[in-house]
Amino acid sequence: MADPTLADDPPARRLLVAGNWKMNGSLADARRWALSAAQAARHAQAEVVLFPPYPWLLEVAGLLAGSPARMGAQACHAEPHGAFTGGVSAAMLADAGCAYVLCGHSERRLGGGETDQVVCESMRRAWEAGLEPVLCVGETASQRKAGATEEVLGRQLAAALDALPGRPAPLTLAYEPVWAIGTGVVATPDTAQQAHAFLRAQVAARDPQRAGRVRILYGGSVKPDKMEGLLAMPDVDGFLVGGASLDPAAFAALARARRQAHPRGSCP
Ligand code: PGA
Repeated sequence: MADPTLADDPPARRLLVAGNWKMNGSLADARRWALSAAQAARHAQAEVVLFPPYPWLLEVAGLLAGSPARMGAQACHAEPHGAFTGGVSAAMLADAGCAYVLCGHSERRLGGGETDQVVCESMRRAWEAGLEPVLCVGETASQRKAGATEEVLGRQLAAALDALPGRPAPLTLAYEPVWAIGTGVVATPDTAQQAHAFLRAQVAARDPQRAGRVRILYGGSVKPDKMEGLLAMPDVDGFLVGGASLDPAAFAALARARRQAHPRGSCP
């Protein structure tokens, strides 16, 4: 029999819980975390996605085979191929079994000098390779203090939306306030909702249909005890999890995410 709770959760806005392992773990850890996530995904309503470091992608793809969990990469190069030592192209990631790729994570924007232009080129490459980009946007503490949050989010999002091709192209957004990443400080549900609603409204101004469908994840020190409050917000469609994704029990708990209320979001 169909699960009645799924009826209010349209497939286009199915919750997504993603684990971004960043530059952590050995191959043995990767195997352990992948097997645990594969198991968690079997019982999850949410879509479960892992973002391992490049060297573990093929191994993790093998371990996830037959499970509903999917895989993505933490970044792709802005060029499709060529003499870019150390670079990894979107097409290589697709060959390795990725369905998703993170674009514009703040650790690459701020630490790696990725500009909006580079982020938007890497999204183009992702779409060409058949991957779904997860565009990460977020303001720093000083930008928030200066009242520039919407200006920053608007600029980062607009650059990416400009890159959208004419044909249908899948896209997920992740609101990741820089002040919340790896700090133990989680945005309050209201703060997250405000930013998510702003992002959805920006998408709606260009493409109302996409705005209703696009998933907007929250990322920044997410832990299981914060999950319920955030999921009660109408525009929070899941999580991009860093630190807690390295703890199989915590990640399994997050993978049990269910909508708490307002399942249809703020857009008609
Ligand atoms: P965090 O990282 O959960 O460790 O704060 C989130 C992210 O950077 O995606």
